[in-house]
Amino acid sequence: TDIEKGTYPYYMLKEIDEQPAVMRRLVQEYQAENGAIKLDQELVDEVITSDRIYIVACGTSYNAGLAAKQLIEKTTEIPVEVHLSSEFGYNMPLLSQKPFFIFLTQSGETADSRQVLVQINRLNHPSLTITNVAGSTLSREAKYTLLLHAGPEIAVASTKAYTAQIAVLALFAKGIGEVKQIAAAKDFDVFHELALVASAMETMISEKAVISQLTEDYLTGTRNAFYIGRGNDYYVSCEASLKLKEISYIQAEGFAAGELKHGTIALIEDGTPVIGVITEAHTGAHTRGNLKEVESRGAKTVVIVSEELARPTDQLVLPNVHPLLTSLVSVIPTQLIAYFATLQRGYDVDKPRNLAKSVTVE
Ligand code: G6P
Repeated sequence: TDIEKGTYPYYMLKEIDEQPAVMRRLVQEYQAENGAIKLDQELVDEVITSDRIYIVACGTSYNAGLAAKQLIEKTTEIPVEVHLSSEFGYNMPLLSQKPFFIFLTQSGETADSRQVLVQINRLNHPSLTITNVAGSTLSREAKYTLLLHAGPEIAVASTKAYTAQIAVLALFAKGIGEVKQIAAAKDFDVFHELALVASAMETMISEKAVISQLTEDYLTGTRNAFYIGRGNDYYVSCEASLKLKEISYIQAEGFAAGELKHGTIALIEDGTPVIGVITEAHTGAHTRGNLKEVESRGAKTVVIVSEELARPTDQLVLPNVHPLLTSLVSVIPTQLIAYFATLQRGYDVDKPRNLAKSVTVE
C-alpha cells in the first residue's frame, strides 16, 4: 500500500519517486467527462467575482504558493498575494474589497493556518482549503476543499505535496481563467502540459547517480550553500534551500539572484557552493552573470537549467516544459540533492531533529 516503504530505504525517496504518478492522478481526478476542469460551480462564481486572491500557508506549502503566484495571475488576471500564516494572523494587512482566501496545507491541521481561517470565517470571507487530507480540520472549516490526491506523505520533509499543490493550483487557475475567457488560460492545455511534466520529472528522477555524485563533489563538508534564481526560479530556490537545511543541516539560503550583490555576497568564501536555477529566457543571462560574480569570489557553482537555455558546461539539464510549470521539474534535482547530502552526512532522512510533520501549536 501507499504507506509502506517497500524496498525503499526512506519514505522521502519513495515520495520523490511518486511525483510523476501524482501528476497523472491529478489529471484524471480533475478532468470532467467533457474534458473541462472539474470545479464546483459555486466556487468558480465566488472566485471570478473576487478582486484578489490571498494564499495563506506555512513552510513548504508557503513556497508552493509562491511558485504558483505567477501562474495564477497570468491565467486568471486576478492579483495574488502569498502570506505566511504566522505573520498574517497577527498583523492582518489591509484587505481588498472582495478577497478570496486559499489555505494551502498538506496536513490540513497546521495551527498557524487554522487561526487565520478562524478570523477569515468571522469576517465572512470565502475560503478554499487545498489539502492532502480529506476531512482534516482546515478542510472542514473552509467553505470549499480541493484535494491533492498525493497519497499519504510520511517523510517530514515534504516533496510530493509541494508539487501536487502547484499542480492543483494550475488546474484551478486554468478552470477560473477559462470561465473568465482569458486568452492565456485558453492557450494553456493544462492536462497535456501536466502529462509532459510527469515525463520530465521521470527523466530527472532517473538521474539519481549523477545527482548523488554532484552532491558529493559540491556539498561535502560545506557549512553553507546558496540557491539563486529570478522569478519562479527564485521561488524554487527558496524551497530547495528549505529542503536542504531541514534534513542535512547545511545552512542554506534561497536568494533572488540580483539581490545577492546588495549584501549577502559578503558570505561567499573559497569553495562556497552556489546553485543557480535557470528556466526563464528573459532572466537567464542575468542569473548567469550573478554566478560569474560569485565564482570570481571563490564560489563553486552548479547550474540547473532548462534544455532550451542550456550550455555545454551546465551540470543539470531539465527537459523543457510549459514556462508556467517549470518549478514542478526544477525542484526535483533539488529534492534529490537534499536527500543525498543528508545520506552522505549520515543523518536520518525521514526524521530530522527538532521537526514535526504536522505542527498543531502556534
Ligand atoms: C511543518 C512541516 C513542514 C510543512 C509545514 C506546513 O512545519 O515540518 O514540512 O511544510 O508544517 O504543513 P502543512 O501541513 O500545513 O502543509
